[in-house]
Amino acid sequence: MCPTKLYIILSVFLILFPFLTQARYTPPHRGGIAIYWGQNGNEGRLNETCATGRYNYVNLAFLNIFGGGQVPSLNLAGHCDPPSGGCVGLSSEIQYCQSLGIKVLLSLGGGIGNYSFSSTDDAKNFAEYLYNNYLGGQSNSRPLGHAPLDGIDFDIESGSVLYWDDLARFLHDFSRRGRKVYLGAAPQCPFPDKYMGTPLKTGLFDYVWVQFYNNPPCEYNGNITNLINSWNLWSSQNYIKKLFVGLPAATQAAGSGFMPPDVLTGHVVPAINRSPKYGGVMFWSKFWDDQSGYTTRIFNLV
Ligand SMILES: *[C@@H]1O[C@H](CO)[C@@H](O)[C@H](O)[C@H]1NC(C)=O
Ligand SMILES: *[C@@H]1O[C@H](CO)[C@@H](O)[C@H](O)[C@H]1NC(C)=O
Ligand SMILES: *[C@@H]1O[C@H](CO)[C@@H](O)[C@H](O)[C@H]1NC(C)=O
Repeated sequence: MCPTKLYIILSVFLILFPFLTQARYTPPHRGGIAIYWGQNGNEGRLNETCATGRYNYVNLAFLNIFGGGQVPSLNLAGHCDPPSGGCVGLSSEIQYCQSLGIKVLLSLGGGIGNYSFSSTDDAKNFAEYLYNNYLGGQSNSRPLGHAPLDGIDFDIESGSVLYWDDLARFLHDFSRRGRKVYLGAAPQCPFPDKYMGTPLKTGLFDYVWVQFYNNPPCEYNGNITNLINSWNLWSSQNYIKKLFVGLPAATQAAGSGFMPPDVLTGHVVPAINRSPKYGGVMFWSKFWDDQSGYTTRIFNLV
């Protein structure tokens, strides 16, 4: 081969080389941390939770009685007593959290409660109740005072499987009134989730924090394979926009599925954070996070 030809081939290669390698490299996406707050009076105030700087989303847990003609009832355990107006002071704390860029959502459902809809109208009435009492609407009996929350989280684990998709649509419609209503969902990892399977297909959920715990088929068990396989199935659904790994914040926080922090940051996050759908990690709960110090160790590594 004559030197000129070799020179040309070499030049072309050197020019293309950076593009060839860049094409293969997708930079990892930075994730956020979502935390459940509200079910233990000894987990610090809401404003203190936000002031830690470790959380990007706070789910207030739980509004756990509603539907079927029941008077909706919020339960914030030892924090404050909603029926007597004891929680209206949370408004300034909610606004403080929002001023830090933290999204504050009201979480519906949970493991203990009584919630089901009897019809589409029942779901519609409840959506209006949520709008007027927790979101951008108005009512003279707002349990958390005047501050509008950023959205509603669905942690539906019992009762009827019907009409949750209607509730999502009605809530989303309120976004047209000038303030976006964010929707979150916390399905169990076995796919599809019994309660959230149909509602998620509306494509209206902004955040899906899957519970990869208390679910042996798809949780961490000393080996990340089952969890990663399940994550890949969830993330391949085109109606899911932002997906989070939901984990217990301490071994005692769940029956099974605890993952040591170094496994999360060293193995799981690197395996999933090149996906544009990667949203970060969700933890149950602030109380258990305080006990273990979990997110203190990982918040800048996810
Ligand atoms: C939280 O709110 C309480 C009551 O208003 C206040 O005393 C405290 O200083 C606040 N803490 C932070 C971190 O803002
Ligand atoms: C749960 O709610 C339904 C109405 O949706 C009601 O009929 C039932 O009595 C409630 N159960 C309890 C234990 O309160
Ligand atoms: C993890 O589980 C997978 C699937 O069950 C298995 O193929 C693999 O060998 C396991 N890895 C380790 C380190 O045990």
